[in-house]
Amino acid sequence: MNGSDWALQAQDLSFAYPGTAPVFEQVSLGIRQREIVCLLGGSGCGKSSLLRVLAGLQAPSTGSIDFLGAPMREPDPRSALVFQQASLLPWLNVTGNTGFGLDFKHQPKLTREAHQARVAQAIEAVGLKGREKLYPSALSGGMAQRVALARALAREPELLFADEPFSALDAITRSEMQSLLVEVVHRWHTAVLLVTHDIDEAILVADRILLMGGKPGNIVRQWQVDIAQPRIGHSDDVIALKMDILDALQALQQQDHAPAGAAL
Ligand SMILES: Nc1ncnc2c1ncn2[C@@H]1O[C@H](COP(=O)(O)OP(=O)(O)OP(=O)(O)O)[C@@H](O)[C@H]1O
Ligand SMILES: [Mg+2]
Repeated sequence: MNGSDWALQAQDLSFAYPGTAPVFEQVSLGIRQREIVCLLGGSGCGKSSLLRVLAGLQAPSTGSIDFLGAPMREPDPRSALVFQQASLLPWLNVTGNTGFGLDFKHQPKLTREAHQARVAQAIEAVGLKGREKLYPSALSGGMAQRVALARALAREPELLFADEPFSALDAITRSEMQSLLVEVVHRWHTAVLLVTHDIDEAILVADRILLMGGKPGNIVRQWQVDIAQPRIGHSDDVIALKMDILDALQALQQQDHAPAGAAL
């Protein structure tokens, strides 16, 4: 533990792709240890670009990022990533895919036993115990995404970066995965930055919601979500928060001269 309670702190981040206008400018944000932060915003507003910069996959044009109290310039092995596609290796079974990358050079050295224990725990946590020998071709989309989550958890990350990890799943599986994510990251004491364009998803899982918008993009509003988990049973509070977020989005769209009521 590093003394501060921040998993990540970013200061005045700006970013542009070569030869284009800045995607975002002067973005500052923090993610506390064990906190689930959802980054919400319309399509193309720069959420994925910001996540990649925060995760160290892309260098910012200006600004600084501290990860667990030290400057971060490349992806830190104490963080992990999950994307929309599970990206499993077809020639490895569930165990192989979950453990994949744990032995890479930049990862902390693990004994064979510790490796096996971590993989087994992660597989159990995502509900795939008994399915260890299955190959990706035999997995449903939801199961594949469980393996992707297990692979991230096996690294015992302090911070999990997730970019729309459930958006390709059907509604029922998505809702199961949202509950699973909240449960396992609480159990693992992992902080999360979850990018989504789904307001309901953000309200169901987040401790804090950041709304990104504008051109160039920035964090234009944030909400602390103090509704007890699981939130399905607190519909009045959930609906009130959703209306507030929808109002903020509509104001953003009017600002950007986008057609009113356009979908996210
Ligand atoms: N590799 C790239 N090169 C140039 N421009 C890019 C690149 N990737 C994204 N962009 C542009 O940067 C802007 C932000 O894109 P980004 O993917 O970060 O948005 P997003 O909020 O994640 O969108 P979505 O919700 O559709 O995933 C867009 O205008 C996009 O066209
Ligand atoms: Mg995106």
